[in-house]
Amino acid sequence: MKIIISFLLTFFLASSLHIAAQPDSASLSADLEKYREANDFVDENEACFKCHAETKYVLVDEFFGREITESMCPDKMVLRDEYYDMVHKSFACLDCHAYEYEEFPHPLEARLEEPYQCIDCHGYDENYAQYQFENIEMEYMESVHATNVDNFSCWNCHDPHTYQLTVRDEESTIKEAIAYNNDICLSCHSDFSRFELLTDREEISILDTHDWLPHQAAHFGSVRCIECHTAISDSTLVAHHVQPIEKAVKKCAECHSKNSILMASLYKHEAKESRKKYGFINGVILNEAYVIGANRNPTLVTLTIVLFLLTLGGISIHIIARIIFKK
Ligand code: HEC
Ligand code: HEC
Ligand code: HEC
Ligand code: HEC
Ligand code: HEC
Ligand code: HEC
Ligand code: HEC
Repeated sequence: MKIIISFLLTFFLASSLHIAAQPDSASLSADLEKYREANDFVDENEACFKCHAETKYVLVDEFFGREITESMCPDKMVLRDEYYDMVHKSFACLDCHAYEYEEFPHPLEARLEEPYQCIDCHGYDENYAQYQFENIEMEYMESVHATNVDNFSCWNCHDPHTYQLTVRDEESTIKEAIAYNNDICLSCHSDFSRFELLTDREEISILDTHDWLPHQAAHFGSVRCIECHTAISDSTLVAHHVQPIEKAVKKCAECHSKNSILMASLYKHEAKESRKKYGFINGVILNEAYVIGANRNPTLVTLTIVLFLLTLGGISIHIIARIIFKK
């Protein structure tokens, strides 16, 4: 009998413990309406966002009337605005995460579950053929990250809750794409707390290892890390084979020359898109991608010709005038 009572009591206590939602402000409900355009699971997702989108959450024990406020670890936060703006914005949390996450504390088996990989959903699917997932997968498998680090996956660079397309996206400028891409690499290579989760190596200072490169800030704002660190790829738009450092590009002329490697990497998409419309050189100029030595400036060329013709015209007028007035 004692056992049954204590069992019932435990059951009762457990069910009286609940997690309080954050106060529902007017601005939140307005936001939720907006998110419904992108996602059919907005209400379901709130069951997770009420803790994961907040800096703190409240545990309530109704039986004893006790409340505790706990802080949410910053690296476990998922923000609504970023989530409903990414490539997988139409997803429910539980499309990727195990149903056991509905329980709190989250059980171990949910946490140890292997996540789906990109290729599980996108591989050999003609709807996504333009992205070349199979080729990207092959390039990635050769990369230093895949070969040297256990537990590295596509998700380490493609944040599951914020991943955007920028290089391909017509609304992003080259500068924005460069900044977005470099931030991906720097999220580990300039944040040792993330880097050390994956390796026992010492901290590597990016500024020190690139001190041979003049105008570092200008370079890191005008080229991506992958320009120098990945093998040029014919098939994929964004090359994914990150090579060992011995193979990294160090010669200035690889970029600062007429046949710059940037035409096959950074400017690949721009060049291809604009070639259709305006012709290749114009495309590069129109996209403000002017690299010293890599291309001629047609405006300058036109200006030179105009000046030349004007000079020629001036001389002719002078000669004609002399002939006329000699008489
Ligand atoms: C009561 C607040 C709360 C709710 C509700 C909640 N979580 Fe969590 N979740 C946490 C906290 C706190 C952590 C970090 C501490 C921990 O792992 O227990 C966490 C961790 C996680 C992790 C990381 C686990 C790991 O091993 O790193 C995932 C994934 C997760 N939650 C998904 C979800 C999903 C999906 C939902 C909705 C179905 C959800 N959570 C609902 C509070 C919550
Ligand atoms: C497209 C699939 C996908 C969706 C949708 C998704 N997640 Fe995740 N989430 C993942 C993957 C994969 C990981 C593991 C990332 C890793 O190991 O680097 C993860 C990790 C997490 C973590 C732990 C973060 C960390 O770095 O420790 C939390 C918390 C989390 N998810 C919460 C959520 C919540 C809340 C939602 C819904 C609002 C959600 N996830 C929707 C795929 C997804
Ligand atoms: C659980 C299955 C699943 C996983 C895992 C997954 N995706 Fe997706 N992905 C989808 C679906 C479904 C869509 C279409 C979503 C929509 O249209 O709202 C999509 C959309 C995309 C798009 C946009 C396609 C377009 O033309 O609009 C890209 C890019 C993409 N995913 C890349 C990735 C990458 C990279 C990974 C791994 C890091 C990944 N996906 C993992 C199912 C998945
Ligand atoms: C070392 C970091 C890194 C890893 C690992 C990584 N990617 Fe990427 N990936 C990038 C960057 C950077 C971009 C460019 C994103 C942008 O601006 O659109 C990208 C772009 C993409 C794109 C879009 C290409 C396009 O044509 O628009 C796809 C698809 C993709 N990656 C799939 C994958 C898959 C699949 C894996 C794992 C097999 C993977 N990525 C692993 C960094 C990475
Ligand atoms: C999730 C964390 C993470 C991200 C994101 C990441 N890396 Fe790494 N990277 C590592 C780790 C860890 C190593 C060390 C591997 C080892 O132990 O040899 C590494 C190694 C490297 C190396 C080889 C260094 C050497 O000394 O051999 C290069 C080059 C590199 N990364 C470039 C990049 C580039 C470029 C990007 C962005 C496209 C990127 N990484 C994104 C974690 C990351
Ligand atoms: C202009 C070409 C270029 C660019 C751009 C570039 N790197 Fe490098 N990187 C190199 C070269 C070359 C080395 C090898 C340096 C040496 O041998 O001393 C290197 C070294 C490294 C190393 C290895 C350091 C070590 O000691 O093991 C990492 C990690 C790295 N780069 C990451 C990055 C990241 C992240 C970015 C973007 C923010 C980036 N690189 C941008 C050319 C470049
Ligand atoms: C990965 C390609 C790449 C490599 C390698 C490279 N550069 Fe550059 N460099 C660029 C780009 C792109 C710009 C910016 C052009 C612009 O936006 O006007 C630039 C700009 C410059 C500038 C002008 C900086 C400023 O403040 O405007 C100088 C000087 C320069 N590079 C010198 C060098 C030298 C010297 C080396 C070799 C040690 C080198 N670069 C290697 C791509 C590269």
